[in-house]
Parts: sequence; structure tokens; C-alpha cells
Amino acid sequence: MTLQIVIGAQWGDEGKGRFVDLLSAKADVVARFAGGDNAGHTIRIGDDVYKLHLIPSGLIYPQTVGVIGSGTVINPLVLLGEMDSLREAGVVVNPDRLKISYAAHMITPAHMALDRARETSLGKAKIGTTARGIGPAYVDKARRSGIQYNDLLDLAFFEERLTQNLEQANRELELYGAEPLALAAIVTEYMGYAETLAPYVADTSAIVMDALDAGKHVIAEGAQGALLDIDHGSYPFVTSSSCGAANALVGLGIATPDEMSVVGIVKTFQTRVGSGPFPTELEGEMASMLRGDGSQQWDEFGTTTGRARRIGWLDGVLLKRVARMNGLTELGLTKLDVLSGIPEIKFCTDYKPAEGVISPLLARTEIEAIYETFKGWDEDIMDVTNWEDLPKNAQEYVLAIEAYCGVPVRWISVGPERSQVICR
Ligand code: IMP
Repeated sequence: MTLQIVIGAQWGDEGKGRFVDLLSAKADVVARFAGGDNAGHTIRIGDDVYKLHLIPSGLIYPQTVGVIGSGTVINPLVLLGEMDSLREAGVVVNPDRLKISYAAHMITPAHMALDRARETSLGKAKIGTTARGIGPAYVDKARRSGIQYNDLLDLAFFEERLTQNLEQANRELELYGAEPLALAAIVTEYMGYAETLAPYVADTSAIVMDALDAGKHVIAEGAQGALLDIDHGSYPFVTSSSCGAANALVGLGIATPDEMSVVGIVKTFQTRVGSGPFPTELEGEMASMLRGDGSQQWDEFGTTTGRARRIGWLDGVLLKRVARMNGLTELGLTKLDVLSGIPEIKFCTDYKPAEGVISPLLARTEIEAIYETFKGWDEDIMDVTNWEDLPKNAQEYVLAIEAYCGVPVRWISVGPERSQVICR
């Protein structure tokens, strides 16, 4: 295997981190291709919990090189914090092991302030962003006023770019009636970050291409989920980058390799944070049960923001579309154990026709989902390690997902530990 792309097949938070962790055991390079610290990966190894937002989770394995690719937007303060916490956990983090693309863009305090100001100004129509400055950083990139990591190689130039960026933001913040940024203090602080991070800046396209040419195993680690994709998601309630498999190539700056697989990670039910359409959304007791009460690391509360996630039944229609658009070759199914004890499990296979609606993702009115119902199971499945040992009803639900989407379910997680994954 050469390139293995791992993407979220829903609205993010599918549990990509644990699968990237599983697959990285055999990887040489693990590369993030889009997004920023709006992503959050929780990985549990024994009693230790690692929360990563930017650094590819596969860096935990000593043989890997981690790449943060050209399509990403990086908050240097968050990155430095993650580097420190990994070091404290005994992971070696140095410029030989971690590479930042020279073309990646920097998130500055200006982007975070603008994110907050814009959301406030939208009132009820707000997107519900993570307030990490993601949108404004991609706006700066698209309007060609962004700061690239390449700029860190010339500190005087970096200072000039950063000052311009902050001055421009202050003009915009004034229009929103928001507090201006303290320019001098931010510039001094960021000059320090620039100096520390400069040795990590590299030509990551070449690094990944060389690895692929040498037959090495590269994992492209997606962020967010396909339904949050700027082009193909529930616009405007999306993130500002492309979360799909095709962007692994663009965001890393590589050509289509000879050998490639695309793993879609999907939860056995549906969640989303932030605003926007959600045809299979549930309220009440069932939603609370699936969400958990927040006492467990794995309950449905945001890794990045702590917000309670919206909950629903698995939307097969959206999943099938994501599978086709992204050429999914395998599915990794997460949280099958959470469904234990639920008498009837619903799976959306269609919607009631609604006038003027082509895509449920863009519907302005509520769309009614049509479900197929499956019998549940009572057994605790958290210790099951073989497919054959799963209750028959659990097998039937998994097989139905597979048949409906036309993509084999290769892995099934039944608990948070590394060992709690069934491989088929
Ligand atoms: P932004 O990416 O912070 O601009 O947020 C845009 C939308 O994407 C909001 O609805 C966020 O809640 C959502 N979002 C961004 N990153 C993630 C993620 O990693 N998981 C789930 N939702 C996310």
C-alpha cells in the first residue's frame, strides 16, 4: 500500500483519530492536508489521553514523520503547545520528525478576532464556528493577503506581513464595532514563535512524493468530515476548506499515486456541531442516551469547543453520496457499542420529496427522513474481538450499512481502547 487517505464521512468527529492511530502503526509518513486546530483528535493509549488538533496523530509512533501540508492553516501558539505536550508524554518532536509545509498559512490573533466578530454580527444566522480563526485565515489566503510559513524564513519580511495583516484586521474589526488588536505586543510575541518554528518549515510536497516514490506507506489524515466540505457540504454551515479525499492530493501537493485506498470513517449514528440542516436529527431521551452525559472521554461533546453535539440516526443517503464522491474503498465504523441496549435502531434510506429541494444539505425547510428499522441487541459488545462473536442483530445492522453504501466495512470499533477494534 502506498497512499492511504482517511477522511470523515459525516460532519466530523467520526473517530478518525483512533483509526489513523491504528493504521499509523505501519506508516512511514502521516500527513494532515487541510483545516487547522478546529479539528480535534482524542487518542487513548492505556491510561494516557492525547488531544491533538494540528499534529498528525500518527507521530506518536517512533518510526513516522509527521507532515502538516500546504492546504492547512496553522495557529503557531497551538502547534507549539501540542509539541510541548507530546514531548512531555515522551514523544520525540524535532525538525527531523515534524515538517510544516512552506505553503501552509498562519492563523494570527486577527483571524480569531474576526471569526468571533463575524459570528456575533450574524446573530441567529451564525455558523457556530469553533472560533479558531479558520474562515478568516482562508479568506486571507484566497484574497492573497495571508501569511505563509515560508515567510518565517525571512524574519524582517514576516514582521512586515504580520503588521499589515493586523492593521487590515483592525480596519475590519472597527466596522464590526469590535475591540482593536494590540499590534506591537502581538508582533513581538509572534516573532518569537516564528523563530522557533522556522527550522520545521520544509518542502513537504517533495517529502511526500519522495516517500511515495520509494514505496513507503503514507497516510493522509483528513480533518472535519465530507459534509462540512466548502464545495460539497451543507454550505454556508461548513468549514472553509475541502475535507474530501481529492483534497488530500491538492492539500499535500502530490499527483495521484499508482496505489491508493480511501478509508471513510463513519459513526453508527450521526452527529454534528454548529448550525445547519440535519435531516435525521433526534431530540429527547434517545439523543441524550446516544450523546452520553459527558462523564466519558468519548461522549458526544466537542474535543475543541466542549459543545454538546447534535445527535441523529445514521443517514445512509448522505453516506452513500459521500462514498461515491470520495471513492471510498473501505469503511471504518465507530461506536457500535454505544447502540447496545437500544431496542430499535433506525437507518435513513430516503427522504420524503420536498418542493424546491435538490440537496438535503442545502434545504431551507425541514426534510423528513424515511427509515429502515433494525432490531437492537442487549449484549455488552465491548470485549468482542471477532466479527463472528457479535450478536446477530449487530451484524445485520453493519451488513445493511455496507450493502446500502456499496463499500465494505473493514473495521468496527466497540470501545475507546486500541484493542477494541474488530478487523474483518
Ligand atoms: P470552523 O471550521 O471553525 O469555521 O467551523 C465551521 C463549522 O464546522 C462549524 O459548524 C463547526 O462546528 C464545524 N467544525 C469545524 N471543525 C470541526 C470538527 O473537527 N468536528 C466537527 N465539526 C467541526
